[in-house]
Amino acid sequence: MNSPRLVAIASGKGGVGKTCLAIGLAQSLAESGARVALVDGDLGLANVDVQLGLDPRRDLGDVLAGRCAAAAALMQHPAGFALLPGRSGSAALAGLEGAALQGFARDLRGLPMDWLLLDLGAGIGAVQRGLAAAADLLLVIATEEPTSLTDAYAVLKLHRRDAPAGKAGLVVNMAAQPARVHAALDAACRGFLGQALPLLGTVRRDPRVAAAIRAQSPLLTRHPNTPAAEDLRRLAGALAEAWATA
Ligand SMILES: Nc1ncnc2c1ncn2[C@@H]1O[C@H](COP(=O)(O)OP(=O)(O)OP(=O)(O)O)[C@@H](O)[C@H]1O
Ligand SMILES: [Mg+2]
Repeated sequence: MNSPRLVAIASGKGGVGKTCLAIGLAQSLAESGARVALVDGDLGLANVDVQLGLDPRRDLGDVLAGRCAAAAALMQHPAGFALLPGRSGSAALAGLEGAALQGFARDLRGLPMDWLLLDLGAGIGAVQRGLAAAADLLLVIATEEPTSLTDAYAVLKLHRRDAPAGKAGLVVNMAAQPARVHAALDAACRGFLGQALPLLGTVRRDPRVAAAIRAQSPLLTRHPNTPAAEDLRRLAGALAEAWATA
């Protein structure tokens, strides 16, 4: 069995759409027949289960305390992907470091999946950096807000330090002019990090995204043909293709 592809989703700045995009990507990849686990990597401040209206019996708190294996904490979502829920309000999880994080990433890689999507929390703490460095690909999400750009660049800069050979790509969310967001970040990465930043996809601003969250239902289930859902499917297709040709 091949090891799953571990994709970490980060942004630095909070509230730019990481969790929405992670859920949409998980569902899109599952729709195309892949085995997908969405892992709530916002250790200590979990909310994927809340966005999806689920009530987990087990979560990452149990896994990391050794009470159950990661596979035993997976919940199957009707949309076709599995979820490894996080735990909200756990200082122990939020404070994981070094070897514990690496052990966690190793356990995840043992799951019988094609894709593991790791939805990271905001910020550039040890958990976000450690999990990003352990991933095969870091997807950085940015909007056109200047603070999102500076935070996304900070994530990329630290990732270059933490995982010099690591791969990273950009997804622009909710921007009127996504090409400008990409151009600005790509120029910074080329100029200061000596590396281009591929644009892996863009997702349009779409009021149905918030409507799906309010209904605690995945976007692609509730509004399968809305523009953001189309963009997420395109992004999933691009990811799968990039992998197949890598
Ligand atoms: N493409 C989009 N169109 C419209 N609204 C969006 C889009 N993407 C995300 N949003 C809105 O942005 C808000 C934040 O989204 P989300 O929770 O996914 O962000 P996040 O980066 O995971 O936040 P956090 O850093 O707190 O984990 C949500 O309320 C959602 O409605
Ligand atoms: Mg989130």
